[in-house]
Amino acid sequence: MPDRTPLFAANWKMHKTVEETESFLGDFLSNPPDPVADVVICPPYLSLGPAIARCADTPVGVAAQNMHEEPEGAFTGEVSAPMLVELGVDGVILGHSERRQYFNESDEALARKVPAALLAGLEPILCVGENESQRDSDETVGVLTRQIEADLSEVPEDRLGDVVIAYEPIWAIGTGRTASPDQAQEAIALIRGMIEARSGEAAGRVRILYGGSVKPDNAAELISQPDVDGALVGGASLDAEEFASIVRFREHVAR
Ligand code: PGA
Repeated sequence: MPDRTPLFAANWKMHKTVEETESFLGDFLSNPPDPVADVVICPPYLSLGPAIARCADTPVGVAAQNMHEEPEGAFTGEVSAPMLVELGVDGVILGHSERRQYFNESDEALARKVPAALLAGLEPILCVGENESQRDSDETVGVLTRQIEADLSEVPEDRLGDVVIAYEPIWAIGTGRTASPDQAQEAIALIRGMIEARSGEAAGRVRILYGGSVKPDNAAELISQPDVDGALVGGASLDAEEFASIVRFREHVAR
């Protein structure tokens, strides 16, 4: 099986001013993260430039939380992939459930955003996941299948492995109710199977993260699952020490 480097992404959502971003990074970077994991910080747009400056010459990357699918145009309030690339941004979260729920992010838009990000040179982190009533009525497989098929429909087979996918059950986001390691493994293996149906090479390479109430005390068990390649962390990523502890999950495994 190919060796996939674990990835930890800090999704700050609408938290932290520029000053708070700098203070976080001062603390976080004073203790170098696990060199065998990739780490990316996703602050609000206004903090992207300062974060990139602060993370230069460090192993920590910086990603945005959204982008528009067009490179430019009359779309007031939006930001495009080439603009992010010019700034030095490495990647972009796409299709987070909060954007789907509160900002009408659609699978149609995502089908254009994911290839636009790849084309511009950004690493997309595509979020998918079912809500509580869908899980309770056994619709999880259907929801994930629909989202993965639609959102990756325009990505060519040879680029599928360059997409990062985050499985984030909505009922676990910000609730303190983490999916069990078995639930995370099952859903993520299912997603890898969907990628496999299109490209065996991509299925071996694609990194699939778990997200939803990841904390220092549950990260190791989740990430030790064979198909779980890291975590997208919200609340616990706002504290430098907590996020650093999640990134150093191997120390918890070894114990
Ligand atoms: P959480 O958020 O870790 O606070 O549950 C995860 C996310 O929304 O990406």
